[in-house]
Amino acid sequence: MLVLGIETSCDETAAAVVRDGREILSNVIYSQIARHQAYGGVVPEIASRAHVEVLPRIIEESMTEARVSWNDLDAIAATRGPGLSTSLLVGFTAAKALSLRLNKPLLGINHLEGHACSVFLGERSPIQVSEFCPLLVLLASGGHTSLVLIRAIGNYEILGQTFDDAAGEALDKGAKLLGLGYPGGPEIERVARDGNPDAVKFPRGLRGRGDDPETRYAFSFSGLKTSLLYHLKSQPLQPGDPRLPDLAASYQEAVVDTLVSRIDRALDNHVVNGVGCAGGVARNKRLREKLERLAAKRKLPLLLAAPDFCTDNAAMIAAVASANLDFRRHDASELDVDPTWPLA
Ligand code: KG4
Ligand code: ZN
Repeated sequence: MLVLGIETSCDETAAAVVRDGREILSNVIYSQIARHQAYGGVVPEIASRAHVEVLPRIIEESMTEARVSWNDLDAIAATRGPGLSTSLLVGFTAAKALSLRLNKPLLGINHLEGHACSVFLGERSPIQVSEFCPLLVLLASGGHTSLVLIRAIGNYEILGQTFDDAAGEALDKGAKLLGLGYPGGPEIERVARDGNPDAVKFPRGLRGRGDDPETRYAFSFSGLKTSLLYHLKSQPLQPGDPRLPDLAASYQEAVVDTLVSRIDRALDNHVVNGVGCAGGVARNKRLREKLERLAAKRKLPLLLAAPDFCTDNAAMIAAVASANLDFRRHDASELDVDPTWPLA
């Protein structure tokens, strides 16, 4: 079974061809970061224009690289939501047109489902998914931070999510305050390498108690950002300030500790067969290290999305589509994009 996946929910224009939901024949990504950098964040109008400009070439590249012809495809899949509406529209409309022209089914895929299931991409084929389920997955990106219980592909429970900023957003905003570039996550990680994570004690999210169902597994990062802001107001950074690495490392540590502590708490109350982490922030080495320690302590298999599949890509979209092809969610050609489509 051969699926062409298309992903344009934010600022990555991506297309991929995946066979049987496991074999990635191509995974082409055009990152628009350079176009948005000057603005310190994603500008929706620029993003959608760039998608229109480059998507046809990206789709063609993905087909050429996969060495398949249009007729070989069994289905077309595209991200239907959540995301920026004008960005989603470009990829979903292109997928509709292809589906109509080729007379192949169209699947509208949830972006968060793609991220959650990206832990199974590559070496771990979806065929073995059941052996790890229920699987507790932390999904941490620039737009989302959720703790998801995967019971099976298509069966998800959200245990908790962020009350305010997403983890990646907290890193992006923190980096801005520290005078670092965009995106902030990799910048903070780079500078933090020479810093002491215990130099400054930043707050670790909500002080939610383990027995409060509202906050038990919830995240909050806005207090952390404010805390850095006040710290810098009272002790401003000078050019070439030697405190910068310590501040970056301490800030990163607060984000990582908040994320890991919620997983730890969820593991106290849920019997699972594995722990996973996906989304852009899952590229972070400090987070990966601490998750390795946690999984070892809990004696659970750890499924970390491969770095290439952490940030937005279309392979995760095509792979989820393959799992659904026979029994759900097609045909999506009468549907519209859904910018706020929840995972569960
Ligand atoms: O999943 P993604 O590409 O896009 C969204 O769907 O949001 O995630 C982007 C986010 C950004 O906030 C970026 O700062 C963060 O992931 N990120 C990282 C790292 N690489 C990307 N955060 C921490 N460490 C990294 N190495
Ligand atoms: Zn994403």
